[in-house]
Amino acid sequence: MGLSVEQLATYERDGFLVVENFATPEECEALKQRAEELVAAFDPQGMISIFTTKEQTRASDDYFLESGDKVRFFFEEDAFAPDGSLRQSKERSINKIGHALHDLDPVFDRFSRKPELATIAEQIGYRQPLLLQSMYIFKQPNIGGEVTCHQDATFLYTEPMTVTGFWFALEDATLENGCLWAIPGGHKTGLKKRFARAETGGTKMEVLDDSPWPDERLVPLEVKAGTLVLLHGLLPHMSYANRSPKSRHAYAVHVVDGTARYPAENWLRREMRPCGFGTEPGAVATGLA
Ligand code: FE2
Repeated sequence: MGLSVEQLATYERDGFLVVENFATPEECEALKQRAEELVAAFDPQGMISIFTTKEQTRASDDYFLESGDKVRFFFEEDAFAPDGSLRQSKERSINKIGHALHDLDPVFDRFSRKPELATIAEQIGYRQPLLLQSMYIFKQPNIGGEVTCHQDATFLYTEPMTVTGFWFALEDATLENGCLWAIPGGHKTGLKKRFARAETGGTKMEVLDDSPWPDERLVPLEVKAGTLVLLHGLLPHMSYANRSPKSRHAYAVHVVDGTARYPAENWLRREMRPCGFGTEPGAVATGLA
């Protein structure tokens, strides 16, 4: 259990670490099946009205900004026809589910609070690891959108920087279906952008360093289902669009340290303080209900 000295050194050097066979096939299947059930129970009508209303930007901003302590469904950019109807089935249109699956859904809660994750968090230096957000990412066949090169600390900002991504491949991630790409050692450069709530409502992107990413240094992280990829909060990473007929499901949780400052202007807000790995499954869900 936990990472070896060599693995910790690799993580320190590269800013990411690939840990094969972290989750069992049964665990991957359980998360996929639960996501399928959540999508089946989701009625997209409310979302469709958000995308077709006159105040579209405002409404979709609010839907996103209020999702920090909820289970909400986000569509692929290309999901809607001009008349507001879905081009493909609901099941094939959703980009991701976020951002409090780990607190509100028992299946994701259990997986997110595996003791092995707490051990790794401690090994990479967390004093008070808090599960801040979770995402189920579908990377749908044919229409799964590109995620451009970014640092997670842009979106999950603390002072000092403490965010780490724990990214789990639930299906094989390949060059064809839009695997992750990262710049080894890129976490040693500073934060380039900060995403926050704007004073006037909505959100803003503050540019701290406008130099381009050295794209030529990106390497693909093709991994098997069950693999954990640890991602340092300052690591530049991305994924290309999925134009293949195969989906690329992944689940990710992001952890911050409770000892760091969490600014009020961060986009992600929660009614309750985020809880750590040691929290009893379901305890937070009860509190949020
Ligand atoms: Fe990311």
